[in-house]
Amino acid sequence: MRVTLCFIGLSLAIGSMSAFANEKVISTIMKNGFKGDDSPLAKVLDGEASEKEAKDLAKMMHQLDGIEAPKGD
Ligand code: HEM
Repeated sequence: MRVTLCFIGLSLAIGSMSAFANEKVISTIMKNGFKGDDSPLAKVLDGEASEKEAKDLAKMMHQLDGIEAPKGD
């Protein structure tokens, strides 16, 4: 019984930690990659991005693949 409770507690703790980490990653990518008229995304869409900016944007987008969006309030 005690082992089961311990396992449930640990699973909950690890689950909420990774949800928090995902939120940080998503928020950083939204702000650094997608937000604003001079964002890497805007530059790529306007055909003004350097090769490095385009590659960095692609990396950020691949990072989002498989990340679950945080649930609404
Ligand atoms: C190319 C696709 C996407 C574009 C252009 C985009 C664009 C944006 C922009 C402009 C913001 C506002 C950022 C701010 O005001 O600071 C935002 C916020 C957000 N987006 Fe995206 N997004 C995209 C895909 C996604 C995906 C796939 C997810 C989920 C995995 C996601 C989750 C969120 C969340 C949770 C926020 C709020 C973040 C925060 O303010 O902390 N977005 N997005």
